[in-house]
Amino acid sequence: MNKSAFITGITGQDGAYLAQLLLSKGYKVSGLLARRSSDTLWRLRHLGIGNDVQLVDGDITDLSSLIRIIEQSKADEIYNLAAQSFVGTSWSQPLLTGNVTGLGAVNVLEAMRIVNPTARFYQASTSEMFGLIQEAVQSEQTPFYPRSPYGAAKLYAHWMTVNYRESFGLHTSSGILFNHESPLRGIEFVTRKVTDAAARIKLGLQTELRLGNIDVKRDWGFAGDYVEAMWLMLQQERGDDFVIATGKTTTVREMCRIAFDHLGLDADKHVVIDSALFRPAEVDVLLGNPGKAQQKLGWQARTSLQTLITTMVDADMGRLSK
Ligand code: NAP
Ligand code: GDD
Repeated sequence: MNKSAFITGITGQDGAYLAQLLLSKGYKVSGLLARRSSDTLWRLRHLGIGNDVQLVDGDITDLSSLIRIIEQSKADEIYNLAAQSFVGTSWSQPLLTGNVTGLGAVNVLEAMRIVNPTARFYQASTSEMFGLIQEAVQSEQTPFYPRSPYGAAKLYAHWMTVNYRESFGLHTSSGILFNHESPLRGIEFVTRKVTDAAARIKLGLQTELRLGNIDVKRDWGFAGDYVEAMWLMLQQERGDDFVIATGKTTTVREMCRIAFDHLGLDADKHVVIDSALFRPAEVDVLLGNPGKAQQKLGWQARTSLQTLITTMVDADMGRLSK
């Protein structure tokens, strides 16, 4: 019999790629659809899977809807990707972020424990939990030091995932994923903001790009590679925690240069530093060690930053030229 999977956050960047991956493996895929006034199904349509997944109304902050949905879905695997995932917004909406990103994960864990305890659970943890880094290269052993309400909420969800594994013997895994991007990335995140702006400037639709701190460094990979790691974690005999990263780190400034160069533009002529876009506390540098994932899951990142960013620029040129 085919396996079934339930994904919260299925309308987001990772949810769409994960749904596509699981469908390609023969899974029956359902996902949580939080009611919104605007169109949130564009990513699923973009990947051509809009009609292949079953969407169920509910909200991650509503335990009763999750109990009903998880009971009905009888999923073998539950992937919790739903979150208020934009770090910048987490300072202006700390309580919402705590409720959705932190407690929301526990709602899913609790619903699973009550009505489907044999399912396997994946939690979308994050390198933001390392925040003010305590080691130059971050691994599963590196102590956490979150620097934003988002990071703190994710850390709570992370420890509750570990706690449900240790307390109730549930098969729960936490993927500590470093930044991963794609043409389906939300426009508020810096890579997509840059690739969209470079394309607009090339097409004469705007002249400048306003950014905050461009000296920060991130370990950026491709979302399509990273959802494979999520699936691999749930195929292991036991739940565990894994860092998923490329092992390379690059400044926002250099990432901009790659995007602008690709279109024959000079980033220095268009980027304007805007102090209003600086964050109250910054995560200056992230650099992950994916050694455990490579050894135990046989996973490694396949897409270079150059390929990732130029693909995103091309996708934005295509969208805007239409
Ligand atoms: P994303 O594009 O922002 O997607 C977030 C998803 O959560 C969307 O489907 C959104 O639904 C849903 N959501 C938000 N509030 C909800 C609520 N109250 N009830 C139900 N669903 C809700 O994020 P992503 O980049 O795909 O990331 C997926 C997960 O991985 C997130 O938990 C993120 O924090 C985590 N993560 C991401 C990265 C990264 O670099 N991308 C790295 C580490 C961890 P709508 O579409 O309706 O808004
Ligand atoms: N968004 C944004 N916009 N970021 C900017 C800008 C700007 O104009 N200018 C500079 N930056 C800097 C931010 O201050 C941050 O240091 C870095 O660029 C990356 O910002 P984002 O792309 O917004 O991502 P993030 O690192 O804060 O968070 C993402 O990655 C996390 C994993 O480390 C999100 O996907 C999180 O959900 C995820 O957990």
